[in-house]
Amino acid sequence: MHIRSRLSVSSSSMARYLLQILIITSLHLISLSSQQETSFVYQNFTSQENLYLDASAKVLLPSGLLQLTNTSDYQMGRAFHKKPIQLISSFSTHFVCALVAKPGVEPGHGLTFLVSPSTDFSYAESTRYLGAFNASRSPALAVELDTIWNPEFNDIKVVGGHVGIDVNDPISIAVAPASYYSKGRNVSLNLLSGNPIQVWVDYDGSVLNVSLAPLEVEKPSRPVLSHPINLSDIFPNISKLFVGFSAATGNSVCDHYILWWSFGTSGGGSLHRLDISKLPQVPHPKPLPTVHPKAPHKKLPPWIIFLVVFLAVVALAVLAGVYFQRRKKFSEVSETWEKEFDAHRFSYKSLYKATKGFSKDEFLGKGGFGEVYRGKLPQGREIAVKRVSHNGDEGVKQFVAEVVSMRCLKHRNLVPLFGYCRRKRELLLVSEYMPNGSLDEHLFDEAKRILSWKERLVVVKGIASALWYLHTGADQVVLHRDIKASNIMLDEEFNGRLGDFGMARFHEHGGSAATTAAVGTVGYMAPELITMGASTGTDVYAFGVFMLEVTCGRRPVEPQLEVEKRHMIKWVCECWKKDSLLNAIDPRMGDEFSPEEVEMVMKLGLLCSNIVPESRPTMEQVVLYLNENMPLPDFSPYTLGIGTFAPVLVDAASLVVSSASWSWSASSSANHSPYAYQGTYQPWGQTVETKNSLHIVSESEKPKTQTLSSGVKTTVTPPAEDLESNLTSISSQR
Ligand SMILES: *[C@@H]1O[C@H](CO)[C@@H](O)[C@H](O)[C@H]1NC(C)=O
Ligand SMILES: *[C@@H]1O[C@H](CO)[C@@H](O)[C@H](O)[C@H]1NC(C)=O
Ligand SMILES: *[C@@H]1O[C@H](CO)[C@@H](O)[C@H](O)[C@H]1NC(C)=O
Ligand SMILES: *[C@@H]1O[C@H](CO)[C@@H](O)[C@H](O)[C@H]1NC(C)=O
Ligand SMILES: *[C@@H]1O[C@H](CO)[C@@H](O)[C@H](O)[C@H]1NC(C)=O
Ligand SMILES: *[C@@H]1O[C@H](CO)[C@@H](O)[C@H](O)[C@H]1NC(C)=O
Ligand SMILES: *[C@@H]1O[C@H](CO)[C@@H](O)[C@H](O)[C@H]1NC(C)=O
Repeated sequence: MHIRSRLSVSSSSMARYLLQILIITSLHLISLSSQQETSFVYQNFTSQENLYLDASAKVLLPSGLLQLTNTSDYQMGRAFHKKPIQLISSFSTHFVCALVAKPGVEPGHGLTFLVSPSTDFSYAESTRYLGAFNASRSPALAVELDTIWNPEFNDIKVVGGHVGIDVNDPISIAVAPASYYSKGRNVSLNLLSGNPIQVWVDYDGSVLNVSLAPLEVEKPSRPVLSHPINLSDIFPNISKLFVGFSAATGNSVCDHYILWWSFGTSGGGSLHRLDISKLPQVPHPKPLPTVHPKAPHKKLPPWIIFLVVFLAVVALAVLAGVYFQRRKKFSEVSETWEKEFDAHRFSYKSLYKATKGFSKDEFLGKGGFGEVYRGKLPQGREIAVKRVSHNGDEGVKQFVAEVVSMRCLKHRNLVPLFGYCRRKRELLLVSEYMPNGSLDEHLFDEAKRILSWKERLVVVKGIASALWYLHTGADQVVLHRDIKASNIMLDEEFNGRLGDFGMARFHEHGGSAATTAAVGTVGYMAPELITMGASTGTDVYAFGVFMLEVTCGRRPVEPQLEVEKRHMIKWVCECWKKDSLLNAIDPRMGDEFSPEEVEMVMKLGLLCSNIVPESRPTMEQVVLYLNENMPLPDFSPYTLGIGTFAPVLVDAASLVVSSASWSWSASSSANHSPYAYQGTYQPWGQTVETKNSLHIVSESEKPKTQTLSSGVKTTVTPPAEDLESNLTSISSQR
């Protein structure tokens, strides 16, 4: 029993003893571990329990952002983890900071990670001492992110700031530009970008490494700074150290923020992972309306900048294109000799506007020399604009001079010419707009009103009077050179107005590419024109043909008619021989005419179209005959030269040469009638090529190919075939 009791006592005391040992050991272990290892993390600084805030440092709520300084000048602020750590052989820390500049103020100065035996920094100074040091020595180890260059502190001058290690005073023992190692190269980092920056400080008992990186970048494989440090040397006889931050402003200011902080004494493994998504937002001050150039801008995404630049370039290119096209579109040619004609010059732009850009709606027609457009000047005046293309400048000067001089010609039966405009390869003639178009439309176009005899006579008389004026009334003799129905315009009252004078002359000077050797119009060209050149006589000849054209209502040559009627002059003469002149007149005139008048005009037409130039009357005489102030001279259809259709003669003496022995070549200048060719007649055996220049080639009498400028080729067999058949063969091949 006794033994049992002793045993039980002894067993219970044994258990108590064991328990005691266990508790003591575990307590010892716990205390040991708390002394040896420290590790903490500040996801944010909302809870300030463990935080010692000094000077202007404060925690912004609700974000939990630790603000070491605001942007007032000469501020400093410090923050420490309240509990000191044992001086240990190693530590690691990782924190996120941000230096946010104030727009319009130079940013500075910077912040430090501090290791210090005390939290009393009452001696510390702001500005370049960063709130951690003063001018003399003071115990502290600092890793500085410095934005200001202070050469006396071993700082280096780098845009974007530098990083350094300071021991006991602000003179850096190691310094490097703020940068990080990535993919084999150093990438510089702007400490003042305002963006959060990650900082790692690693100490293994002998070497202190410092690494930086932007928020989104992993810890670089190489530190920006690596320097030997012995903490036991720096802090002798001290076993407890405080860790924290300091920052300062001076003349230069910025907000110094700490966003997140992890610390551990047992190497990098004791650190917490940074969760970027949970970081507090750094407040960025709104830029002032007048942004200082040094103020950091919020960077636009590169693609926006690219897009803006691209659009600007495109817009610029388009504007330049429009400008140059416009310049080209409205460009004119002007030379010094034209100065004296300035008053008669129109700007191309004004004509372009007047004709609504030479629109199809304003197109009046295509004459032998160019297209005609209707236009309206700003003052409301209606104009007709003829565009004449030319390929040389030779004739242009003289032509412009003539055109301008013709402006002085004033006659109620001339189409008034207002002026001109000259461009490269183009001449524009501005004349009065004639509302009733050209006479030939009223003779041949069934859709138009057919003129009565009375009206026709008025036109004929008017044109005769205008021609008389041109030949004698002006300072110098002015030849028209291309009288025909399509060149006679009709005003509101159906008065005939002679237009287009001088055009033929212009082309004779080689001005036009469209028509070449041709001067005048086939059927209206006096035979001696080729050999003797133009004269008042050739104008009279054309006027004679014109009178017959008006009376007979047909063109001078109409190959589709039966042989005896084909040539108007011949036919009229034949009718006269049979004493039935009225058979030749235009049946559409109706009965309202005076036969005497009609016969007189027809006879006068034959007289004027006499192939013997000397037998033709002058225009003065023609006017007198027409107004019946003078009777017609005595002549008959059998008079020499009357009623002979011979387009070109070498001279009057070779009358016997029949028209059958003439060949011709034509330029396919556009005209209303396919038979109203402009061409040059030459005796057989001489070919005329109308290829911009006139070549006369001697040829034997064999069939020859003639080239129309349109490229149509026709073979003419000499000399049995007469002109009609040539015309027919050409027309059938067209
Ligand atoms: C900065 O903080 C101080 C107090 O710590 C205050 O007086 C000053 O107005 C603040 N400045 C700015 C710009 O917020
Ligand atoms: C601050 O951190 C704590 C955890 O440490 C978290 O619960 C809290 O939501 C955080 N506050 C803010 C404002 O992020
Ligand atoms: C700097 O700080 C130390 C204390 O660490 C102090 O003894 C010394 O007087 C201070 N020097 C100046 C210039 O304030
Ligand atoms: C990167 O910077 C470090 C220190 O600043 C320097 O030692 C190293 O040579 C640099 N490396 C390159 C690739 O520039
Ligand atoms: C410091 O950096 C060097 C390489 O530059 C590396 O060898 C060393 O391990 C690093 N020390 C610490 C504690 O990270
Ligand atoms: C650090 O300094 C202490 C005392 O001066 C010395 O005992 C120790 O060996 C040094 N450590 C290294 C790694 O040099
Ligand atoms: C450190 O303490 C020892 C005595 O424990 C003393 O002899 C020595 O001078 C002290 N060193 C310094 C730098 O205070």
